[in-house]
Formats: sequence, C-alpha cells, structure tokens
Amino acid sequence: MPTQLTQQSPINMSWNSLYQKVYAPYSETESACVVESKTGKFYAGVLIENISYPLTIPAVQAACAICLSEEEIPAKIYVDAPNLEQLTFWVEEFNLEVIQTDNPPKDDLENLAHKIDSSIEIKSELKSLLKKAVTPNSDFPVAALLFTEEVYFEGVNVEASEWTKGICAERVALCKAVASGHTDLDRFEIHAEKGEISSPCGACRQVISEHMPYHSINLHHSDGTLSEHLSIDLLPFSFKSSILKNKK
Ligand code: THU
Repeated sequence: MPTQLTQQSPINMSWNSLYQKVYAPYSETESACVVESKTGKFYAGVLIENISYPLTIPAVQAACAICLSEEEIPAKIYVDAPNLEQLTFWVEEFNLEVIQTDNPPKDDLENLAHKIDSSIEIKSELKSLLKKAVTPNSDFPVAALLFTEEVYFEGVNVEASEWTKGICAERVALCKAVASGHTDLDRFEIHAEKGEISSPCGACRQVISEHMPYHSINLHHSDGTLSEHLSIDLLPFSFKSSILKNKK
C-alpha cells in the first residue's frame, strides 16, 4: 500500500528538538516521528541505535509501541520524510494516516514520567502494569519500571502481527525515557507473572548494557522472590568498543 502524504500547517515543535534526543552514535542518523492516537494523544519516537545493529529500534516502532503500551491505538503518524524505517509496516498495521510536516505536534511524553515518591510499592505497581501488555501472540505479559534519578517510566511488552516487530517491556520503557530526553538512567524493576523466573532476554541485556552498564536490575519472580543483579553480571564480557562511536 503506498504511503499517503498530506501537507500540514505548522503546529508547534521542530524536528530538531526531537533529533537532539536521538541515540545514534554509530551512524549519526537523525530520525524521529510523532504518533497520534485515536483519542488525540501524541507520542514521539526517536531512533535508538545499538552496537549490535539488529537491536536498533527505529523511531516508528518506538512511537507505535509507546502508544500501544498506553492502551491507545495509533491513528496518524507525523514524519519529516516518508522514508523512515518500518514506516510501511506500521502504516499497514493500523491503517495510519501519514502526515509530512516541518512542524510536528508537541508530544505528551512528559505525562508518562512518574515522579518517584517513597510510598511507591514496586511489586504492586509491576503487577497492575501487566494488564497493559499487548500480547496477542504469546499471552505472556511482562512489566518493567525504568527509574531515572527523579522519575520512572513504565514499560510493557507490545506484540504486532509480525513476531519480529514486537518489542519487550524493558525496551518500551527505554523508548519513553530516551524520547523524553533522559540520559540519567538508574535502574530497572522487572516482573513476568507467567515465567518460572522473571529475566530480561538476551536482546534486552545487550540494549540495557549499552545504556546502563553498571546499574541495578531487580527481578521480581512469579513465586514472590526478588533477585538483585548488576547489568554487567547479566551480560559479562560483552561486545563494546569506543572507537565505533561518533567517528564522523
Ligand atoms: N519479553 C519481554 O517483554 N521482556 C523480556 O526480557 C523477555 C520477553 C516478552 C516479549 C514477548 O512479548 C514475550 O515476552 C515472549 O517472548
């Protein structure tokens, strides 16, 4: 299906303000978009590269997954160019209207940053978050909380009609934090009620190790026990090289 393009009058943001949040140290590509849900909420997605390139999260996948993780259905997508990675897939998945514009709408991501207060009960937060997971294929909901120094972001796994377009709870939380401009990532709390243990997959370990290599990953298992780890211990001796970054 060809991508539909319509012109929009200026709204109130520049692409540059979103490009500043992109994490693309390897290619230095600028790529971002904003998804509008059926109820009129706006979710930005930015490109998040990974040293292991298949684990790179395209901006369109990030924005759609954030929208779906908030129990909203994507309806429109604002782009600056029609050639974004995975655009065709997600346009067909939700019959999205594509709007090419120089001035994307301001996103509502600041509402997704929850203030940390001492009364927060991590386990019950995680348990109630599970119901937001979108798991038509696996029926295996996962919940993750990603803490920065002042706020935390919720993540649930989001599956699509193609298995490989799904994205784990941990990475959905990361998409929200990065697109909100947070680099002060501090710790993860993770829960999967149906697993024998709650534990991030190999892909998530690789992604987490790139953004927070020596940080706490707390795993809340289905039997009620908690195990506490450092990300470095979940992916020891991992591939890294500073010469690959910012080479231009
Ligand atoms: N899943 C996560 O959300 N996080 C993990 O680290 C493990 C796997 C999800 C992905 C998929 O929706 C389902 O669990 C089964 O793999």
